[in-house]
Amino acid sequence: RADADPLRPRFHFVSPAGWLNDPNGVSHWNGTYHLFYQYNPEGAFHHRIQWGHATSTDLVHWTDQPVALEPSTGPDADGCWSGVLVNDGGTPTLVYSGRLGEKELPCVAVGSADLLSWSKIPQNPVIAAPPAGVEITAYRDHCVWREGSIWRQLVGSGIRGRGGTAFLYESGDLRSWEYVGPLFIGDASQGDPADTDWTGTMWECVDLFRAGGGSLGTVRTPADAPDVLVFSAWDDGDTRHPLYWTGRYSENSFEPAGLHRLDYGGRFFYAPQSFRDQSGRRIMFGWLQEGRSNAAMVEAGWSGVMSLPRVTTLADDGTLRFAPVPEIEKLRRDHVGLPEQELVPGAPVPTWVSGNQLDLELDVQLEPGALLRLGLLGSADNGASDSSREETVIELCRTTEGGSQGTLRLDRTQSSLDPTVDVDDKSGPLPMPDGRVHLRVLVDRSAVEIFANGKPLTARVYPTLAGEHVSIAAEGTVRLLSFDAWTMAEIFGGARNLFP
Ligand code: FRU
Repeated sequence: RADADPLRPRFHFVSPAGWLNDPNGVSHWNGTYHLFYQYNPEGAFHHRIQWGHATSTDLVHWTDQPVALEPSTGPDADGCWSGVLVNDGGTPTLVYSGRLGEKELPCVAVGSADLLSWSKIPQNPVIAAPPAGVEITAYRDHCVWREGSIWRQLVGSGIRGRGGTAFLYESGDLRSWEYVGPLFIGDASQGDPADTDWTGTMWECVDLFRAGGGSLGTVRTPADAPDVLVFSAWDDGDTRHPLYWTGRYSENSFEPAGLHRLDYGGRFFYAPQSFRDQSGRRIMFGWLQEGRSNAAMVEAGWSGVMSLPRVTTLADDGTLRFAPVPEIEKLRRDHVGLPEQELVPGAPVPTWVSGNQLDLELDVQLEPGALLRLGLLGSADNGASDSSREETVIELCRTTEGGSQGTLRLDRTQSSLDPTVDVDDKSGPLPMPDGRVHLRVLVDRSAVEIFANGKPLTARVYPTLAGEHVSIAAEGTVRLLSFDAWTMAEIFGGARNLFP
């Protein structure tokens, strides 16, 4: 049933059945990439979460593996929540949040050499309780790394009346942990929950790493290489979006320098986790949650999409820059290109491209005040009234003053005739030196990932009509320097075994 859904992505990883949320234990082990994920095979709802598992040798095609962790009697009886994989002197080791009742506590499991069978250690939970003496909002999710002979761990949390935080621990053996203190505490009184950069009352899925390739706790090269603390800002109201601090981690604390939005799609690229692969790249995955109702997910039989893996690098301005891993390009099939041209304002250019599994790559030059509109998944008759046509629109616009500032916007207001799906606008600032923008767009049925000059905007769309046209239009002076489009192949041919 799920596979028959025309909205189910075909070149993004999706779980074989039921529900998927966060990426977990993302890693590269002896030449094989491992993607674990929050999984409920029983149905498209969040309940009694297990760790699903898939492997890949190219970050493009995935092989389903047996479920890695399942709830059992003990501290994870109600769910094996998010966590990470570390290499403990050759032994693959998972650190995750065991859930029992309303409580989550850190647990450890050790794996076989092929990472396919996992045993929970008898000492679980490895930390008996959250730090005493503070009132916490929640306590879960882990970032674990080694500095010399010491293991360090962050557990995501929040302090009531103050803000989100990550508690730092140390261990010699991953089993007995000593509490050090909060790495850094956010200030939830800054701004309010409606702000796209509000830091929340709790930080889910903290991920700390050295930007630019080095390891935490080693000599910095270059000396100004920042550290990055990624977290998913959460509140028991509606706030859920990924943010990051750049700054400096040293001496068991983190000195923040700047706060940034990780993805302008907010909750549509949630709970990201990254790792360094064997070629030294920092690669990040995130969860593309749904914009349709719980009832619609259950009816569809599946929920949740894993993002394409993203290479994460440091931009000249000290922020992060993202691009899909180049390996994805091997899925490109039929190609259409357009010649360099000045776009005629108000006259849409026929692109001859249509489809709902596409990779688009454009270079454009915008004069001050100009706007480029890229229409996706458009139903054929542009003349039809708004109430009977659909189109998902990406806009790039440059400020009237010129300079290097602009905006990236995803307008989903006409993306679906289904009145029950989420169609909020998504947007964010777009640096565009001299008005130049490199735009990459990956459309995979209901999943859309946009990268404009390295700034990502990820979202979901739920078109109901068969139309799939791509159009380009301009206001003001816009020069199309290059345009290339490809259809994209599927990554899962045939039926997947539900219980490998
Ligand atoms: C984030 C999250 C994590 C938790 C997991 C539960 O989406 O809520 O904080 O570990 O999902 O599935």
